[in-house]
Amino acid sequence: MRRVIFNQKGGVGKSTITCNLAAISAVEGKRTLVIDLDIQGNSTHYLLGKKVEDSDRTIAAFFKDSLSLSLFGGNNNSGLESAIHETAYPNLFVVPSHPELEPLQGRLESRFKIFKLKEALDKLTGFDAIYIDTPPVLNFYSQSALIAANKCLIPFDCDSFSREALYRLMQTVKEVKADHNQQLEIEGIIVNQFQRQANLPQQLVSELIAEGLPVLEAMISPSVKVRESHSVSQPLVHYVPTHKLSDEYRALYAEIHK
Ligand SMILES: Nc1ncnc2c1ncn2[C@@H]1O[C@H](COP(=O)(O)OP(=O)(O)OP(=O)(O)O)[C@@H](O)[C@H]1O
Ligand SMILES: [Mg+2]
Repeated sequence: MRRVIFNQKGGVGKSTITCNLAAISAVEGKRTLVIDLDIQGNSTHYLLGKKVEDSDRTIAAFFKDSLSLSLFGGNNNSGLESAIHETAYPNLFVVPSHPELEPLQGRLESRFKIFKLKEALDKLTGFDAIYIDTPPVLNFYSQSALIAANKCLIPFDCDSFSREALYRLMQTVKEVKADHNQQLEIEGIIVNQFQRQANLPQQLVSELIAEGLPVLEAMISPSVKVRESHSVSQPLVHYVPTHKLSDEYRALYAEIHK
């Protein structure tokens, strides 16, 4: 299963959700790969404890390879496979991001490389689950991810600007599905940093549900543990396995796997 975690609004929890769901997947015994398509490299840092300086073994190298036309096959997927890094956790792997994604983007767009990620993932074997983190913008990389994935998870942070972004986003996903990827389904909206006691977030979420939007039941509370877990580069199930947030993430994982 390939999941893309996308919302063009920044700071809603994409990278946190990507890495924490992937960490649980790996704990469950599934060989799990995170692909970091965001130039900010937050998922890379969260899972590896560092950014990757040399672009050779990153997603940038994979895309760069796709620009060098080989007349002799060149179709062995080595670009993506050699960019896979082990993490400190069993079964959990990451293809890191790299700043070179930025200058590459225009060339990739003008040479129609939007299906390259999908093609490479179709050929990639040995993984049970793939999670793709995206930048907070609809650009070449987030579109590549939407084309490559089967499911789209949408983090939502309960503010009214996010609600506007949500409608645009649902439309975008529908359009990508219609034009480029029939398999793509919205798996659900993940309510992140949900303040259960406060009126406004509750009202907002009830309205989304009443409108028929696919809001997942498992919601994630705000907690300082998230920031802490980022700073020590340990996903929550490893950093604070018995904390409420780890339970909430396990419930979220269980809900999308039932
Ligand atoms: N449940 C939570 N409780 C408290 N803070 C959280 C929670 N989830 C995410 N955050 C914090 O919110 C910020 C944004 O989270 P994150 O980086 O995952 O969002 P993002 O959508 O990937 O952002 P960007 O669009 O910049 O890539 C981070 O500082 C993170 O620590
Ligand atoms: Mg992010």
